[in-house]
Amino acid sequence: VDWLVKNVTYRPHCYVCFTWDSSVRFLFSARPPPPRWDCFSWQLLQTLRGKLGDPTGFDNSLMQHLTLFTQDPDGEYPNQDVVWEKFEKAFIAAAGLITHAPVLRDYFYKGLEELHQDNIMYLELRSGLSRTYELDGTIHDKVWTLKTLQEVTTKFTADHPDFLGARVIVSVKAAVQEAIQLQKDFPDVVAGFDMVGREDSGRTLWYFREALSLPAELGATLPYFFHAGETDDEGTDIDQNILDALLFNTSRIGHGYALARHPLSKELAKKKNVAVELCPISNQVLKLVSDLRNHPATVLMSEGHPMVISSDDPSLFGTSGLSYDFYQAFVGIGGFKANLGTLKELAANSIRYSSLPAHLKEKGHVAWETKWDAFVADNCC
Ligand SMILES: *[C@@H]1O[C@H](CO)[C@@H](O)[C@H](O)[C@H]1NC(C)=O
Ligand SMILES: *[C@@H]1O[C@H](CO)[C@@H](O)[C@H](O)[C@H]1NC(C)=O
Repeated sequence: VDWLVKNVTYRPHCYVCFTWDSSVRFLFSARPPPPRWDCFSWQLLQTLRGKLGDPTGFDNSLMQHLTLFTQDPDGEYPNQDVVWEKFEKAFIAAAGLITHAPVLRDYFYKGLEELHQDNIMYLELRSGLSRTYELDGTIHDKVWTLKTLQEVTTKFTADHPDFLGARVIVSVKAAVQEAIQLQKDFPDVVAGFDMVGREDSGRTLWYFREALSLPAELGATLPYFFHAGETDDEGTDIDQNILDALLFNTSRIGHGYALARHPLSKELAKKKNVAVELCPISNQVLKLVSDLRNHPATVLMSEGHPMVISSDDPSLFGTSGLSYDFYQAFVGIGGFKANLGTLKELAANSIRYSSLPAHLKEKGHVAWETKWDAFVADNCC
């Protein structure tokens, strides 16, 4: 977010607009953009900043639109609805910057750099593959975006040979057919499919059952990585998503917050060796749990349930990379008996439960083990 504001919004032709619902929109345009439904008047940021006495204060206010970070989370976000509203607004606000084609390249490279600095060797990224735009208004489709991610990853791995690569979990609303095609055309880059958004206010997996049965009907392969059970309401339709995700042969379960209270799903997940993607900070910020020692994953971890750690949307939470979430998983969820073995298992699980083909998993594990042994030798015993 710091880079988006301090670098990207300072680029030429960047327009800003403040909306009636106190959000913000950005647009790169060769000419002043015309008004649209959510934006009556656009101002060139360069001109606006010239008129302001306090550019630092202004930049900080822009950053606040792009993250959930606040000194007073309980006061500012009294319940899940309020925090989700701000969360979704922040995505919309950032979109005008990130979907500008030249920015997307830099943004993705910059993102990989941040992860690499946090010692991450390999990335599986959920992305809706937004369409992107040029200064003259030209629009690129999703295939362009996927190709760009592929090119940037290739450049990044060339610049950083110890980085193994990145794959995308395509998360588009129920556009299964499109995802099948993308996976067919880009098997190295597309790991599979997911649907994202706030589960509690969205449709169930069961509702999309016909679309989700398409790959099996067509004899196509489209691995699923479903978000499921990101809820603390028991007994709702949404609460059933975990079981449906498993019956649709999901490869992992995003969040799986509700899993601990569904014994049958838990047993099935264990039998099928389907890991949950635990996102401790996200669950805390989005108000599923306040004290992480009460997180249902404490139960899963004590039972040795398959588990990996994810940071969900770190830049929105004011964190970066994955270390913050590993710390929370270790201290908050692992408890006093968590030890070096806990960290080792969680890190190894990242590779074990990845979407990589077997030979790349093996390669990744070997590379990781070398780094792990060096880390232990340097820091321990
Ligand atoms: C903005 O970011 C780009 C890409 O990371 C970098 O090349 C450029 O030097 C940065 N510009 C400034 C003014 O920091
Ligand atoms: C899930 O996998 C099982 C076992 O391979 C298979 O019989 C079933 O058809 C699959 N279900 C779907 C919805 O693809």
